[in-house]
Amino acid sequence: MKSLLVLLVLVLCINTFTFSHETKLTPIKGNKYHEIKPKLDAIEHEISESSLSLSCDVCQIGATLLEGFLQKNASTQEIIKGLAELCIISKAEQPEVCYGILNNFAPIIIDVLLQSEFTPTQLCTYFRICSKGGSSESQKENYHDLQQNSHFNPTMYTNGKTQYKSLKNQKPLMKKEIGANSTIGYFLQLTDIHFDPDYLVGSNPNCGRPLCCRDGTGDAGVMGHYLCDIPFSTVEAIFEHLATLTDQLDFIVWTGDNPPHNVWEQSQSDQELATRTLSQAIAKTFPNTLVFPAVGNHETYPSDQYVLPKSQWLLDSLYENWGSWLDQDALDSVKEKGYYTILLRQGLRIVTVNTLDNDMINFYNLLPTYLAGPNNQSDWLINTLTQAEQNNEKVLLIGHIPCTLKAASTDQWCAMYEAVVARFSDILVGQIYGHTHIDQLVVFTDPADRTKATGTNFVTPSMTTYQNHEPGYRIFEFDYSTNQITNYYQYHANMTEANLTGHINFTLTYSAKEEYGLPDLSPQSWYDLTMSFKTDISKFDSYFKNIHIGPVQSECDQDCRYNWVCEILGTTSSLYDQCKGV
Ligand SMILES: *[C@@H]1O[C@H](CO)[C@@H](O)[C@H](O)[C@H]1NC(C)=O
Ligand SMILES: *[C@@H]1O[C@H](CO)[C@@H](O)[C@H](O)[C@H]1NC(C)=O
Ligand SMILES: *[C@@H]1O[C@H](CO)[C@@H](O)[C@H](O)[C@H]1NC(C)=O
Ligand SMILES: *[C@@H]1O[C@H](CO)[C@@H](O)[C@H](O)[C@H]1NC(C)=O
Ligand SMILES: *[C@@H]1O[C@H](CO)[C@@H](O)[C@H](O)[C@H]1NC(C)=O
Ligand SMILES: *[C@@H]1O[C@H](CO)[C@@H](O)[C@H](O)[C@H]1NC(C)=O
Repeated sequence: MKSLLVLLVLVLCINTFTFSHETKLTPIKGNKYHEIKPKLDAIEHEISESSLSLSCDVCQIGATLLEGFLQKNASTQEIIKGLAELCIISKAEQPEVCYGILNNFAPIIIDVLLQSEFTPTQLCTYFRICSKGGSSESQKENYHDLQQNSHFNPTMYTNGKTQYKSLKNQKPLMKKEIGANSTIGYFLQLTDIHFDPDYLVGSNPNCGRPLCCRDGTGDAGVMGHYLCDIPFSTVEAIFEHLATLTDQLDFIVWTGDNPPHNVWEQSQSDQELATRTLSQAIAKTFPNTLVFPAVGNHETYPSDQYVLPKSQWLLDSLYENWGSWLDQDALDSVKEKGYYTILLRQGLRIVTVNTLDNDMINFYNLLPTYLAGPNNQSDWLINTLTQAEQNNEKVLLIGHIPCTLKAASTDQWCAMYEAVVARFSDILVGQIYGHTHIDQLVVFTDPADRTKATGTNFVTPSMTTYQNHEPGYRIFEFDYSTNQITNYYQYHANMTEANLTGHINFTLTYSAKEEYGLPDLSPQSWYDLTMSFKTDISKFDSYFKNIHIGPVQSECDQDCRYNWVCEILGTTSSLYDQCKGV
């Protein structure tokens, strides 16, 4: 993530090169370099200080000049070469990282920007570096009730032309009989495993590249290190523990992000191998358990970049790796679009979305074809939910990138998703997500009545320790008689202790109902909890403590608390801004 932002800024700061003539690039020398150096230092400082907020001024200057640069018709190779030099002299990243990132990403970014209709200012707003008013996101010491919005019409997200298969006579996948002794069941969520096949015990965890613990000398532990992705042997140890839960689990939801974070040097085959390795490990650990996987933004190559037909190889590999878990209709859908639906039991359906369409860092999402309607996935989603409603089914929705600022989700997708959640709130019984590596709640409200909650995204923390997280997983409790999620249990292990004992030991972090004093896990109960954070600081502190379970403890003052409330309710950037009173 950080590397991609560095790249973005570098692309935007392309201005720091002059042209000796039309198409040749020459790095600025002598005095001119001194003129730009403070700007580079400022950018570098901002990147190191915060995760997503570069200053709006820097972005706009860079973007305006980028436009001029593109108009000069410089070749991609020239741009990469020039940017790599800039990246190296500014010490934004190590040389191999600079070259790796630029070679992988710059051709796509340049290609997309040339085709997109974004003006530089709009681009800075799109990446949420500038607010709509053109300034950096400001820190208001308050938060505001969300306004009602009557323009809301899910039918604007359908094209009405595509024919879909009837879902009426599908066979349920789940064989287990429910109800003999109890109607309560459990499912496990695994997410953001990000194992590193090249993790090296005793290597340097703080090497200055975006991912370390692969070379040098240092204290990278036997089980892992907080600054790095986890070794495969740790994944195996965790799975060995999870295998003991098999009898209690009805199914597993696996919300993706399989490869490590060395995004500057990956290849298509690395990505395919990561998904294959984990698919095989999960199948081996749980040979008789249903698994419902979703694609993460790291599965593709380069990371986050996905567009059809170019990314067909990814869907082909998912089709192969997910083959033992899904039925043929679902697999065909995966092969075609990366999303699917499955009838779990009579009256209960799984719908899994492909959230590469909700990835702000997927530059292909800037193409005009995408902006016209997110790859028709909304059309399929609405059709599927409409059929589910007609067939009296409830729906458990699964995806990777949730709708929250920290997820770098897109407004196009999340505005659509909000409308869909409001329209189908009666049949949506849960929305299971990952991606941000932290424990987050997202609450959707009805555009016509912002005090009415329509749905929640449960955002489960990562299994990888990257960065500064204890490894975690979650178990949801489900009542099949009402088709409701009745509770969830969050677990974590202590990596410091795991390194000392050579054994990974998971403990219950909290049980949602008890931790937050909830009467039930309905969207309205979560909304009420969120509103209570305004005044009930001890309740908020429980939430805040659970966000990051790890070695780094931080304090949260009133501004910070209000930011987190807006993070929960700000499912699009305009709702976030409204909440913040920007
Ligand atoms: C860049 O290329 C376009 C299309 O080939 C051309 O119309 C334009 O004049 C060129 N601009 C410069 C500055 O060379
Ligand atoms: C129900 O409970 C009985 C007695 O404890 C047990 O023998 C039986 O296997 C249980 N049935 C199911 C479906 O779990
Ligand atoms: C285990 O990992 C921790 C945290 O990542 C690290 O500080 C420590 O040095 C490691 N310990 C061992 C024994 O490798
Ligand atoms: C969306 O569906 C319409 C109608 O079937 C089709 O013309 C269009 O090409 C599709 N767009 C994408 C991005 O698949
Ligand atoms: C992990 O264990 C260490 C050493 O026992 C302890 O200091 C630390 O507080 C523990 N971390 C968590 C999150 O429980
Ligand atoms: C696992 O952790 C629990 C709670 O921290 C502790 O009581 C128990 O002894 C640990 N077990 C092992 C095998 O380390």
